[in-house]
Amino acid sequence: MSEETKTNRRDFLRKGSVAGAGLVLGAPAILSAEAKNAPSDELRVGFIGCGKQHEVLFDAMKNIPGMRYTAVADIMKNRLGGSASRIKNMFGDMPGRYFDVEEMLEKEDLDVVFITTPDFWHAPHTVMALEAGCHVYCEKMMSDTLEGARSMVAAMDRTGKLLQIGHQRRSNPRYQFTLDYLINQEKICGQIVNMNGQWNRAVGSSQDISVKESILPDEKTLLKYGFDKGQEGKLSLSDLRHRFVNWRLYKDLSGGPISDLGAHQIDIFNWFMGTQPKSVMASGGRNHFKSREHFDNVMCVFEYDTPEGGARAFYQVLTTTSAGGGYYESFMGTEGTVEISERAAYTNIYREGGCDRSWDPLVQRGILKKVASGQAAGGSDAIASYESAPPDQFELPGGLSKPPHQPHIENFVAAVRGQAKLTCDGRHALESEAPIYWVNPAAENSETIHFTDEHLHV
Ligand SMILES: NC(=O)c1ccc[n+]([C@@H]2O[C@H](COP(=O)([O-])OP(=O)(O)OC[C@H]3O[C@@H](n4cnc5c(N)ncnc54)[C@H](O)[C@@H]3O)[C@@H](O)[C@H]2O)c1
Repeated sequence: MSEETKTNRRDFLRKGSVAGAGLVLGAPAILSAEAKNAPSDELRVGFIGCGKQHEVLFDAMKNIPGMRYTAVADIMKNRLGGSASRIKNMFGDMPGRYFDVEEMLEKEDLDVVFITTPDFWHAPHTVMALEAGCHVYCEKMMSDTLEGARSMVAAMDRTGKLLQIGHQRRSNPRYQFTLDYLINQEKICGQIVNMNGQWNRAVGSSQDISVKESILPDEKTLLKYGFDKGQEGKLSLSDLRHRFVNWRLYKDLSGGPISDLGAHQIDIFNWFMGTQPKSVMASGGRNHFKSREHFDNVMCVFEYDTPEGGARAFYQVLTTTSAGGGYYESFMGTEGTVEISERAAYTNIYREGGCDRSWDPLVQRGILKKVASGQAAGGSDAIASYESAPPDQFELPGGLSKPPHQPHIENFVAAVRGQAKLTCDGRHALESEAPIYWVNPAAENSETIHFTDEHLHV
């Protein structure tokens, strides 16, 4: 593409940005005008950060039509080369390769970028890319700080560009059907009084990551890109390299397990409840990985006000034990309980044994499939009068026949083309993520934090 065409296309996209400014959720209507007039139907895609999650997203999007993989950026030479080669092998053209994101955004004419850098880089990269006229898909957690996340929403508003946050469950048909139809329309749970969620990981899956030293960036690069954040002038090269590879373990670079794993699921509590919680209490410890900055295990309780009465959500992230059923969220009501997960294996619905309402019509319509009738546990220690009638177990519909991140990327692409509304735009993502930033402080100080606007505002 000539310099002149590139400039015209950029000017055109920037004009679209001005027109969209201030129309946050209405942006797709504006964008449809932009998309209709687009010089090319293909979206020119840039990747920022080419580590593990970049590979997951690329695998999930490689079958989506109309994408031209134009440029990649990473400060690690072999990841940059690996990503570029994968794109070339699959699509024929070698993308532009950049160590520096600003340079990529300056030189390339991109419509959308996907950001999969460590959490402390999300806000600067998102703001730069939005300002450069790109629509952005940025991985969760939005940022390592609440201020960073707020700056992303402000940039989204200022530029009128789209910002999708990578809480992929929001576009997952199983989650959408369960919320819209089973919980909200059919009221299958009755009154939801409690929620429970967990991500349990074994010690073996929680170890420090190690990468061959010879392929890691040099000291100058690591300092230039802020891997000494909060510890300026105090770190050896080996400390810097450890922080680069294991950024999740450091307080100045990430929010630790509660934001890395918990964010996925606490987002579901807030999305399903349709509101922010009113308080959080938490407890955590460095019980096994004793020298880590972040807690290795955290348990917390959020309290909610709902139109039907109070509700509370218990969440635990464990990095020392995998037993106890993996990762799921459960919504426990007076008539039924939905246990939902990205993994079908952890997904079920239970009908309360004493519930008056029959679920047979839902079974007859093929919506639910009964897998087990409730049976009281036998044994000589059973005392019937102590126990509730056992619940029946059903299978939850809505399995996915594609990678779990694909529907979320498809939603983003459709929104950029003016054909859909984002399922997890920056503003809604931050409304839901804001309470998560307060879990570590609550656990650190063993206190209950009662939220005010100052804690949660976007
Ligand atoms: N949605 C999900 O299911 C999910 C799953 C895993 C990870 N994630 C998120 O994806 C993001 C990346 O995680 P990951 O596991 O791929 O991490 P990673 O460490 O494997 O990859 C990060 C990459 O970013 C590069 N990088 C670092 N700083 C950079 C900079 N300033 N400019 C350019 N490149 C830079 C690194 O060299 C590395 O290749 C995180 O925010 C994480 O929370 C989301």
